[in-house]
This record gives sequence, structure tokens and C-alpha cells, in this order.
Amino acid sequence: MKKILLLCCMVTMLLGLSGCSPSQPNEDYGWLKNAIDTSVRQLEETVTDVGDSVLLPRSIWTGYDMDFLCRQLQRNPATFKDSLRIKPVKDALGTRRYCTSVYDWTSGFFPGSLWYAYQLTGIEDLKNDAVKFTNYLYPVRDYKGTHDVGFMMNCSYGNAYRLAPADSIRQILVQTADNLCNRFNPNINSIRSWDFGKWNFPVIIDNMMNLDLLFYVSHLTNDSKYKEIALKHAETTLRNHFREDHSSYHVVSYNNDGSVESKCTHQGKNNESSWARGQAWGIYGYTSCYRESRNVVFLQQAENIAALIMARVKTGDAIPLWDYDAPDTAETPRDASAAAITASALIELSTWAKDGQMYFDYAEKLLKSLSSDAYLAKVGTNQGFILMHSTGSLPNGSEIDTPINYADYYYLEALSRYMQVKGLDYKSL
Ligand code: GLY
Repeated sequence: MKKILLLCCMVTMLLGLSGCSPSQPNEDYGWLKNAIDTSVRQLEETVTDVGDSVLLPRSIWTGYDMDFLCRQLQRNPATFKDSLRIKPVKDALGTRRYCTSVYDWTSGFFPGSLWYAYQLTGIEDLKNDAVKFTNYLYPVRDYKGTHDVGFMMNCSYGNAYRLAPADSIRQILVQTADNLCNRFNPNINSIRSWDFGKWNFPVIIDNMMNLDLLFYVSHLTNDSKYKEIALKHAETTLRNHFREDHSSYHVVSYNNDGSVESKCTHQGKNNESSWARGQAWGIYGYTSCYRESRNVVFLQQAENIAALIMARVKTGDAIPLWDYDAPDTAETPRDASAAAITASALIELSTWAKDGQMYFDYAEKLLKSLSSDAYLAKVGTNQGFILMHSTGSLPNGSEIDTPINYADYYYLEALSRYMQVKGLDYKSL
């Protein structure tokens, strides 16, 4: 008996360490099958709807009410500047919003969602659609005007190369990574995010997400230069973006000598608040950095952010309000995109961390919430998007409580990571 007990303990310990839980035959995966089937049908309907019009779906147009914005930002209407707000024409409200061009930072997410849907189901038509929409982004390989080329090209062409490799795709990824590296300043040890605004050298926490392109291209080329730049950027961000409680500033701008010029927000409630998606970008980025470097400082940072997210979430279903400092009221919008990004990151983190099971369980809770009627759209609704209730940029009056393409992308990525860790495949659901 003692021997059996010992064996049981050892198996439990090993599973705990690897962060994996074995798939239990009796577990009910109806929610997962419904999530995948709904996602596929929404994507297929969108593809049919868009046809050959060379458009990339982004979200649904929302308007905003000034009093509501002031309440959310807890600012006095008399001091509130309205000049930068996005003001959609009335007729557009409720209709599908497309990327303004392939240079829109979200252009890679719709093709990327098609790639994940193909990976999840093996449906060949989805692959053909993914190829078609990915190829719209071909001109972006020459683009040097933003750090977002990592998001745009890794989510589209990066997934294309992973699932259907071709030399031409490899070349596109290398060229894009070279352009991203050209935004790296060795005095500041960071990659410049934006070329607009009044900042000297702005770096946003979101930039942590562009590092995966550099890691990937380092593997493709066997050239460590891409990875070295990515890790230097991550170290600089670790030093300057985080507060003592491990929450992150959105924007840090640097002087040319590498000293900090300013710290502020662009999309959060205020400069000292914890914008929900910013924290999600952070945990995802530092988990990637640990995977590629095995530097425990990065693992610790990812775990620190995870602890912050889990401690500060105010909702029963764990889908965060758009900012962790937003007023805790019934009208405050949530951000399903932050939840989807966090779920995907936590599943990877669960495979590296000692207490992996805790992160996996939390990710599962997020995925089940997102897959419930409260967030997962019914087929034929939601303009073809998969998830409802994300918030893009509330202070700028843009994409408030609406579906957004990157929520769908990271949701599908999280579902596929979930299935990998659980050892599940679609046909057995
Ligand atoms: N990268 C911009 C955003 O997260 O909204």
C-alpha cells in the first residue's frame, strides 16, 4: 500500500512540475467543441461575406458618449479634451469595421485566426482562405514605420510558415525582422514603438509582443542577432516599465542617452493605472522571453504579472474590466481581448513554472468564461466575429465593448495551446 501511495505521489509531482494535466476521458469537452465549431462557422461566414474585396475585418464600429467616457476616466468634463476621439459617422455604427489598409496594426489577426482554425480542425478550405488573406499583407515586408510589423507579419506569415512552410515566406519574415531590428537603438537598448506623437523615443509595453517574430527568425536563420536584440529590449523594458507591484506603465519614452524622458498612458485610465491589455501583453511577452532564453528573471516577471492579474481582477468570471483601476460599476466595459491574451500566455507559462497547474486552471477558467453565451457569439451574429465585449482604446473613444480581431486570434491560439497541453485533438472531442 505504501508503495502504491508513493507512486501516486511521484506521478502527481511530475504532472505538477510539467504543468500538464492528462486528458481525462470522462471530462466534458462540449464547451470546447462548441467553441471551435462556432469559431469556424463565424470565420467561414466572414470569408464569404468579404469575398474578393481585399478587406481585413477588424471590429464593429461603436460610438461613445462623452459623459460615459468622463465617468470611466474619472475626469471632469470641463477639462476633458475631445479633439482626438474617433467619431464614426452615424450610419457606420454597428457595421463591420475593416483595417484602413494592410498597414493597420491589426491586419495580421484575421489571417492568423484562419490559420489557427485550420490548425485546430484540419479543414483544407480554411487553409486556402488563410493563404489568400495572408498574401494581402505582402507589401508590409517593406514597411519600416512601426514596431507593429511583428504583430502583423508573425500572426499572418509566421503562422503560414509554421503550418505550410515555403522559402518565399521565410524571406518575407527575415526582411520584416530586419526592418524591426533597424528600429533598435543601441544607446537606449530598445526597439522604438511609434513614429507619431511628441515623445522622443516611445516604447510601449505592447512591443513585447513583437519579440516573437525576432525569436522565430533567429531559429529560421540560425542567426542569434535577432534574439539578442529581442532580449536586450526585454531587459530594458523590465527595468523601466514596471512599478513595484509589477504592474506596467503603457508608454515609456527615452532620451537619446537612454535615460527615461517620461512615463504615461495612451490607452489606459490614467498614467498610473493598470490598463488591462497592457498587463496581458507583459505576461505573454515575458513568457516568450523565458522560453527562448531560459533566464529565470523573465520567468519570475511573468509569474509576478500573473499574480497581479489574478489578485486584481474584479469580476466573478475573471474577464477583466478594461483597466484594473476602472470604476467597479455595472456600466464599465470589460476587455475580452485581455482575457484571451492572458489565457494563451498562462497556458504556456503553466508548462514552465513550478506551480504550473495553478496557471493552467486559471487559463481554463478564462477560456470557459469566454466560451459561454456571455462572450461567445451565436453563429450568424456579431458581424462574423467570434467573441463579444472587448475594449480597444477607451480614452480615444475607439472600439468600446465590441468584438475585435485580436481577441479572436488569441482566443483561438489559447484553445489550440489548451488542446496541446491536454493532448486532445478535434476529432476526439
Ligand atoms: N497594441 C495596441 C493595443 O493593444 O491596443
